Amino acid sequence: MEDVDGGYDDKTVLVTGGAGAIGGNLVRRLNDLNVEKIVILDNLSSSYEWNVPVGPKIHFVHGDILDDEKLKFVFKHRPDIVFHLAAHFANQNSVDNPETDLMVNGMGTLKVLEFAHLTDVSRFVYASSGCGVYGLDSILPYQEGDVSISLHTPYQVTKLLGELYTNYYHNLYGLPIVNTRFFNSYGPGEVPGKYRNVIPNFFYWAIRGQALPITGDGTYSFNRTETSAATYVYRTTYAGSATYPSATSLTAGVTVQSTSTVTPPLTVTAVNPANASTNIPITTAINVTFNQSIQAGANYSNITLSDGTPVPVTTSLAGTTITIMPNATLSDNTAYIITIPSNAVKNGSITLATPFTFTFTTVKS
Ligand SMILES: NC(=O)c1ccc[n+]([C@@H]2O[C@H](COP(=O)([O-])OP(=O)(O)OC[C@H]3O[C@@H](n4cnc5c(N)ncnc54)[C@H](O)[C@@H]3O)[C@@H](O)[C@H]2O)c1
Repeated sequence: MEDVDGGYDDKTVLVTGGAGAIGGNLVRRLNDLNVEKIVILDNLSSSYEWNVPVGPKIHFVHGDILDDEKLKFVFKHRPDIVFHLAAHFANQNSVDNPETDLMVNGMGTLKVLEFAHLTDVSRFVYASSGCGVYGLDSILPYQEGDVSISLHTPYQVTKLLGELYTNYYHNLYGLPIVNTRFFNSYGPGEVPGKYRNVIPNFFYWAIRGQALPITGDGTYSFNRTETSAATYVYRTTYAGSATYPSATSLTAGVTVQSTSTVTPPLTVTAVNPANASTNIPITTAINVTFNQSIQAGANYSNITLSDGTPVPVTTSLAGTTITIMPNATLSDNTAYIITIPSNAVKNGSITLATPFTFTFTTVKS
């Protein structure tokens, strides 16, 4: 990962929600850098004073993002960078308290954005939510464009609303924004509770020797992000590798696969370049698209010569497409075979009777 720490030299950073589970970790990371000042605005509605980071460069303001006076006060520090994490968290809480959810996540985000725009901040990072925007109908692995407008909780609606507002500020005023989408995050500083994520609650119940309840039929699948990894990605996101205003999914961590969704047979629907199965220039990347997604992270590098000899090439996967980068390692006029092992089919529970193979032959370019 690129080193981005210098991007924070002498900067003033405002972190709304900086006393929270992710915000607290983020502030501690920022504090290790050469920042001028970190201002936290947090009303401690879902966090505790003991989790507020302390240090000579850290200024904690106990207040609400809906309070114009508090906003004026923190923006008087003229932040260069704003991380907006304060939120009414999360799904069940929003179902029980939909109006508060809309006020904090909708109106609150709008107010913070307006102050950021009026004070010309150089970067506004918004904490969106993977569970919020992708909905239930998106197919794994998620693509950033899979945003759903058929959502199931007010929290999903308002986290998406936040992205719409940040995009609006970028489009109309050129505010430099980054939308980041966390998946279930876990790490130090998050306490168990009625509205909190499953991992701190599981730890709490396990320590007390209680049963760990599994809801649904046990086949649910979701992605978790370790909090310190998430804050590290935040830093990288800030430093300019971001493709704002496009959203960025932060999906490091353990993926628990579900069952279902893929039905054999797995077939190739397109190959680009179109004649790749007969002859391709040896320096051209080949995109092989299948009729359904295959498992991210599975081993697609087992490309072999027709006699089975392995060939070291790089492959990457995006949705249903595998891209094979020859890296100039392929030889001319040679037949190669891509083998997709049976356990590479998405979601693991369905196995192919035989590994899928695809043959192509190179030609001098
Ligand atoms: N934790 C996750 O798994 C997860 C997943 C996706 C997105 N997110 C987003 O990341 C951000 C941080 O999440 P978190 O897990 O650290 O949540 P958190 O509840 O621990 O932190 C949110 C912080 O915001 C503060 N806050 C709430 N309402 C406020 C208000 N009106 N004014 C000022 N401060 C207020 C809370 O006191 C808390 O300290 C949130 O925007 C959340 O929607 C989190």
